[in-house]
Amino acid sequence: MPKAELHIHIEGALEPELIFDRARRNGLTLPYADVDDLRGRYQFTDLQSFLDLYYTGMNVLRTPEDFTALTEEYLTRAARQGVRHAEIFFDPQAHTSRGVALETVLDGVEAALADSRRRFGVSTALIACFLRDRGPEEAERTLDELLAHKHRVIGVGLDSAELGHPPADFARVFSRARQEGLRLVAHAGEEGPAEYVWQALDVLGVDRVDHGIRAVEDTELVRRLARDRVPLTVCPLSNVRLRCVDSLSEHCLPRLADAGIPITINSDDPSYFGGYVGDNFAEIERELGFDTTALREFAVNSVEASFLPESERERLR
Ligand code: ADE
Ligand code: ZN
Repeated sequence: MPKAELHIHIEGALEPELIFDRARRNGLTLPYADVDDLRGRYQFTDLQSFLDLYYTGMNVLRTPEDFTALTEEYLTRAARQGVRHAEIFFDPQAHTSRGVALETVLDGVEAALADSRRRFGVSTALIACFLRDRGPEEAERTLDELLAHKHRVIGVGLDSAELGHPPADFARVFSRARQEGLRLVAHAGEEGPAEYVWQALDVLGVDRVDHGIRAVEDTELVRRLARDRVPLTVCPLSNVRLRCVDSLSEHCLPRLADAGIPITINSDDPSYFGGYVGDNFAEIERELGFDTTALREFAVNSVEASFLPESERERLR
């Protein structure tokens, strides 16, 4: 089934094997015995417990070649699971804050994206996410830096620790990004309340909501998302692993889909959550009993919710 992936953090595709490989190349010592020891630590209690390991893991990414290797590995795996278009998140501040230049990240990632269509059959776009727990002023400075490379990203997003960092704090930086012609997305309603989803819509004016699952707690909000056909990029395995839902069989995704919200299925941070996008499709089929028609609809939604121009969507239908 051809599909688009719209919610994938490239740093979350960093497999333990590549962490060890890059540590060796960069002369870094890791505080883990081996790959199994590291993977064994991927037991999360909430979003923050994951983010701690996620930011530590990406510390091995230093050179453009590190980012190229990471991106090539993602594209290889995604292509095998039917991804034909990927809108890839990256976290500029997670690198610039530890002395790795934005150019290093962009040059490295883009080296892999440049011939992705030919090598992997995957078209791509990049979305730069602001780390909400580093505050709106740093986000503004990050946007200033990004605007020097405006042609290289299609949009901006908002991620990292959600609770206590409401979308409304980022009204100004999102308004500037919009004026610059960038597309807008934001993580909201993953761990945070439905109120954050309202803010993502009404204050930031996002084109899509990343996660958005806690919208299910607010009937009026569910009606709004359905009426305006606002896509949600749902990440089922992530939600289970970060304990945002108790189990996959109790996931609210069928309720959101039944209400008429365009739902897409995505992997979020596949190396940490035990599966790429095809694995997410397989698991929801098994645990939630979706039939082929329903699964196909999620795949179609992903193409319609993408930022691809109409002329390029035909390839994916
Ligand atoms: N950064 C990477 N994965 C994330 C997630 N699931 N939520 C918020 N920020 C993230
Ligand atoms: Zn995410």
